[in-house]
Amino acid sequence: MLCDDDAVEAPDGAPPWLEVFTAEERPDLWERAGVERLFEALWPEYNLHGTHSAAYFGELVPRFARLQALFVDGRSGDLIARARTIPFRWDRTLEDLPRGIDPVGLRAVQDSRTPTALSALSAEVRPEHQGAGLSALVLATMAAMARREGLAPLVAPVRPSWKDRFPITSIEDYANWKRRDGLPYDPWIRVHIRLGARIVRPEPLRVDDGVGRYWEPNVWILHEVS
Ligand SMILES: CC(C)(COP(=O)(O)OP(=O)(O)OC[C@H]1O[C@@H](n2cnc3c(N)ncnc32)[C@H](O)[C@@H]1OP(=O)(O)O)[C@@H](O)C(=O)NCCC(=O)NCCS
Repeated sequence: MLCDDDAVEAPDGAPPWLEVFTAEERPDLWERAGVERLFEALWPEYNLHGTHSAAYFGELVPRFARLQALFVDGRSGDLIARARTIPFRWDRTLEDLPRGIDPVGLRAVQDSRTPTALSALSAEVRPEHQGAGLSALVLATMAAMARREGLAPLVAPVRPSWKDRFPITSIEDYANWKRRDGLPYDPWIRVHIRLGARIVRPEPLRVDDGVGRYWEPNVWILHEVS
């Protein structure tokens, strides 16, 4: 993949019609996604009520506009996918890895130290374009943005696509379920692992004020970026 200082290009293997822009390059597209709520219908209802999510999702543009990617079908001009990421300070130890998506988002916006790593926040492919292999291109673009900004590694607090089908299975067990071919059972974890990433830690439990609560499970997955 070739990038100049300002642009991010479609990753290797992308179809010729796929155009990729950062929100810095195309603030109009970023705004359109929000105003027309192009990606909202993708999410299960339980995902739309985060306690802290507005505090960091609301900060992404203009502050981190170079790290948000928008994917356009150049044949129609349709905005078909979006990658949202946030840079944060991490010393690469497990102890210092925030305990899920809210903690990483809050650290990113509250910590005044220079960020060292990039966290994925969301990969979104609009329903009519799902199942065509775009998600790997979205992740490859996140890795390319991390590389360009000198942020490594790329980590992702992954929401496994099918975990809600198995509510009484622990996230640790679920994250490690494998198919016969040795790849993860969960389709979204599988995309990451196929790209060479590895699971570093599931986030099973959130404790507030001494009370453990069920929380949307995340699985931290790490992509080396060189
Ligand atoms: C998860 C998501 C990004 C995948 O995007 P995509 O471009 O459709 O995925 P791909 O076509 O690359 O397929 C990836 C894998 O998921 C499977 N898959 C694709 N669409 C699927 C669906 N709707 N349900 C179940 N599995 C699906 C594919 O079979 C593939 O697995 P395989 O290659 O091993 O067979 C997309 O479904 C999405 O935007 N979901 C809503 C938002 C979300 O949950 N994002 C991820 C958490 S941040």
